[in-house]
Amino acid sequence: MILLDDIRRPVEDRLAAYEEFVGRHFTAEGELLSEMLRHALSSRGKGVRSLLVMLSAGMNAAVPAAAEGRRPALAALLVEMIHLASLVHDDVIDEADTRRGRPSANALWQSHKAVLLGDYILARAMNLGLASAQFDLVTHVCGTITALCEGEVLQDDLAGRHTMTREAYLDIVRKKTACLLGVSASAGALAVGAPRERVAAMRCFGEALGMAFQMQDDILDYTREAQTGKPANNDLREGKVTLPLLLVLDRVSEERRTELLGRLAQCRDDEAAVEYLHRTVVGEGGLELAAEVMRHYVTRAVGQLADYPDTPYRKSLADLCAYVAERDR
Ligand code: IPE
Ligand code: IPE
Ligand code: MG
Ligand code: MG
Repeated sequence: MILLDDIRRPVEDRLAAYEEFVGRHFTAEGELLSEMLRHALSSRGKGVRSLLVMLSAGMNAAVPAAAEGRRPALAALLVEMIHLASLVHDDVIDEADTRRGRPSANALWQSHKAVLLGDYILARAMNLGLASAQFDLVTHVCGTITALCEGEVLQDDLAGRHTMTREAYLDIVRKKTACLLGVSASAGALAVGAPRERVAAMRCFGEALGMAFQMQDDILDYTREAQTGKPANNDLREGKVTLPLLLVLDRVSEERRTELLGRLAQCRDDEAAVEYLHRTVVGEGGLELAAEVMRHYVTRAVGQLADYPDTPYRKSLADLCAYVAERDR
């Protein structure tokens, strides 16, 4: 079992400095907003995106000092805060009561305040980025915010109509997740002045990793034991067709497909329908089929590392690929 702690080791000190940077700069004015921001920041999640920035910066730096500067820390802050804001908003959209094993912001303060909190986190990150005058990094990273919104809107639209295609699923995953992981990896390279081809290779690496990451997330939604800190079968309750169900739908007759999609339409307030679809997906091998597709993207990501010399950074990035494929949270 690969542990994130081991993957972090080569950049432990830089991540600690980054955490300190966040603590010092990421504050709010006013009692309520401060409390909400503290809540959002106090459970930081796995920190995969900032880790990706730091490892990519380390692997692509011509001299070690470049990876220890302020630019990688700023890039890490930008990607992690865009991610955090997107989760705060995502829980409003999905009406989810828990996040990272604790009550979500919308559960504690209602949706309208959670929307404002997400906006505040985004605005604060943007202000910090612009004040630092590292415009290339800010421009590079912030392009993903529009993709994130496009992905969420598309997903919501299709869930509302209880439908999905393979192309649409891949498009949604690319926009809502892979894009930000791709930019995390490429921003690390950009932050240390790596040549354009290397920045592009890192983006391909992160995107493939991100595709696999979201697919594993979608698989984990079906597995109750998962320690994700999120309720199981939420995707079904939200009417979402994700990879495991999609692959089952692709294999059954037209008649059966119509029947299953009919059940999906009932999932919002019918637990029996949720149970039925869950059992069907598991029984038809949907989880294994999805894992196969996920592993295809992991292999693609690992391939992007081939031209790099064997260093602890490269090893950690390869281990991160393996971690994504086997993670249970
Ligand atoms: C959750 O991301 C949302 C997805 C894109 C799957 P993470 O799994 O990285 O969430 P945290 O930051 O660890 O909570
Ligand atoms: C992840 O979407 C949030 C974004 C990438 C914007 P989901 O709704 O699929 O993720 P979880 O399961 O709530 O973390
Ligand atoms: Mg959600
Ligand atoms: Mg969502």
